[in-house]
Amino acid sequence: MPNKKIIIANWKMNLSLGETKVLAKKFVKKFTGFKDGEVAICPTTIALSEVAKILKDGRLKFGAQNVFWEDNGSYTGETSISSLLEIGCQYVILGHSERRAYLLENYEMIHKKVMAVIKTEKLTPVVCIGESWKERETDRRDFVLVEQLWQALSGVNVFGSQRIVIAYEPIWAIGTGTAIRPDEAEYAHKIIKLALNDMFGMQVVSNNFRIIYGGSINPKNVKGFTDLENMDGLLVGGASLKVDDFYKVVKEITK
Ligand code: PGA
Repeated sequence: MPNKKIIIANWKMNLSLGETKVLAKKFVKKFTGFKDGEVAICPTTIALSEVAKILKDGRLKFGAQNVFWEDNGSYTGETSISSLLEIGCQYVILGHSERRAYLLENYEMIHKKVMAVIKTEKLTPVVCIGESWKERETDRRDFVLVEQLWQALSGVNVFGSQRIVIAYEPIWAIGTGTAIRPDEAEYAHKIIKLALNDMFGMQVVSNNFRIIYGGSINPKNVKGFTDLENMDGLLVGGASLKVDDFYKVVKEITK
């Protein structure tokens, strides 16, 4: 049986707490009875526990947009893995390119976060990788993707039912309204899969890893991404802020 597609709504810092609650309730209503894929909402940290209450007992899951690698101590402004688990959080996005650009998060930090998250089988890391426009134009994409995977995942021991999601997000396609061509995404996912096979072995990769795409996915362009090889789902930003658009995206990719 094929794996269920994973579709993650990344709400970034687009909504106030009040707006988040309203949208989360709309999601619950719209997705009642939906069972074809795994859908998770990632609101801001401050909204997580409210979203947890709204989604309680439903099919939708939720995730954080970041977490810290230490579990306790003097780390002003950070959030621990155990507090995410306390409220039933199931996903955590790590190393999003916006954090890498604006908060200077580097792969050494991302690696520490992956190492910490992986210790618990209850929290699935969504590790973001992807090339810049310049790297693409200078034919360095494949190298960059493999390098980022090595930096984020070397020394990581994947065991049991622990899942790791790799989100391929070409930086130049995020928030632009223009997604990458589906065949290019398929090619990049293949490079990622081969690199993972090298690092972890095919059996572990097929059991524990999923590769999803992110960058300007919307109801109009999602069709092209439905039947691609190694396409296990989507990370959706802008189009996840409108429940009807997001629902269309989810319905299409889970066909
Ligand atoms: P976008 O964002 O869908 O608005 O391009 C995707 C992301 O940054 O995860």
